[in-house]
Amino acid sequence: MSNYSSITGSTKILCVIGHPIGHSMSPTMHNAVIDDLKLDYIYIAFDVHPDLLEKAVDGFKALGIKGINVTIPHKINVMQYLDEIDPLAIKIGAVNTIKNEDGRLIGKNTDALGAKRALINVGCRLRSKKILILGAGGAARAIAFSLAEEAKEIVILNRTVKKAQNLAQNIIEHSKVIIKGKHLNQQNIKEELKDSNILINTTSVGMKPQEDPVLVPKEVLHSDLFVFDVIYNPLETRLLEDAKKMGCKILGGLDMLVNQGASAFEWWTGKKPNRLLMKNRIIEFLGLK
Ligand code: ATR
Repeated sequence: MSNYSSITGSTKILCVIGHPIGHSMSPTMHNAVIDDLKLDYIYIAFDVHPDLLEKAVDGFKALGIKGINVTIPHKINVMQYLDEIDPLAIKIGAVNTIKNEDGRLIGKNTDALGAKRALINVGCRLRSKKILILGAGGAARAIAFSLAEEAKEIVILNRTVKKAQNLAQNIIEHSKVIIKGKHLNQQNIKEELKDSNILINTTSVGMKPQEDPVLVPKEVLHSDLFVFDVIYNPLETRLLEDAKKMGCKILGGLDMLVNQGASAFEWWTGKKPNRLLMKNRIIEFLGLK
């Protein structure tokens, strides 16, 4: 609702909490579809310091906030304050969306299915594939758990090897996929890429202003590889540019971002948002190329 004069006593509030939060794309994409569907909602961002998280969650109930997105650094810590958590979010160990159902706060992880849906929509087949994931943070956890249902093998490479091994161990407890957690280095990337079908970058390497060194040398990419980078700014990272040059199919992070937002929006409001509108509004807002 960008027309503030239409806010009334019955306007419902949706929000995102994080720290910091100023760069969040969520208000932009959610308010675009609130306008489009002419709903009596407004979506705002709150910068919540970690020390005040519990009070903020009490505030959702006290103020009757209908839906909440949760971002860094609260995705794990918020779970202890919720009344109910969806089983996939429990496995992942992180919640990025909360719905307030008559004072009961229910948590979900829409990042997980957002990534899977983005891959499927561009024709990437997951069943019986070997997937190489770079990184073992929040995004990697969500993606690895959602793809473990279909993949044959998942290898997680991380700079801090313990986190890769812990994630692999967590997944073993819940799925039949073959899984390994190893150190992120050039040797392991080269070795594991040889027979991989899909490569997914979940690290922040390649994010604007792109001053990081290249993680994956172009020469080790092969044309039957599908390369997905969760970064959306720039729209095409150096990794994706290199992958394209090597004949790989590619996907950037914007569709995953839009999908997680769209699933949250539909869960809260019961209305299907226009995903293309959400995507275009972000591209416009960030001046992406
Ligand atoms: P997100 O929620 O976006 O996944 P995160 O949980 O902070 O964010 O995870 C960031 C990931 O990027 C981690 O896997 C991190 O590796 P460490 O666990 O070793 O910190 C990885 N990462 C960040 N900068 C990196 C770099 N310069 N080289 C390699 N990996 C990097």
